[in-house]
Amino acid sequence: KYEKIWLTLGIASLIVFLSVVGVSAFSQNHTPAGGMETIDPKKVNETAPFDNPGVTQLDDDTYQATIVAMAFGYNAPELRVPVGKEVIFKVTSTDVVHSFTIDNTKVNMMVVPGRITTKSYTFEKPGTYLILCNEYCGTGHHMMYTEIEVY
Ligand code: CUA
Repeated sequence: KYEKIWLTLGIASLIVFLSVVGVSAFSQNHTPAGGMETIDPKKVNETAPFDNPGVTQLDDDTYQATIVAMAFGYNAPELRVPVGKEVIFKVTSTDVVHSFTIDNTKVNMMVVPGRITTKSYTFEKPGTYLILCNEYCGTGHHMMYTEIEVY
């Protein structure tokens, strides 16, 4: 008789556990930042939008900057965006974990192979901003940086 109670309790807690996992997975997929988009790290260069990295204009007020991080640099030719416009950064890695950190801004993204990390940012001041990796990624880590020009 007691066994039945324990079994019922066990099943009940299992159901609670599964629904918690399910709800958190669901809400992660619906975060405004874009959540967890996945990508095959070996096929980054063939997968849109990373097959054509750089800045593209989406509409009058929105730009997209697509960047591939790898040891030890960022593949993103000529990053130039206008001031006061929304820039959606989409970054992935082909090898290990890097970061995509824009100096003097709130942009500090972890870049993980197999995932597309998305972050929206609007520059308030023109200038040349340093982009660097602050996640130790190997012997060339300190040489991993590029620039973005805001005009
Ligand atoms: Cu890439 Cu440190």
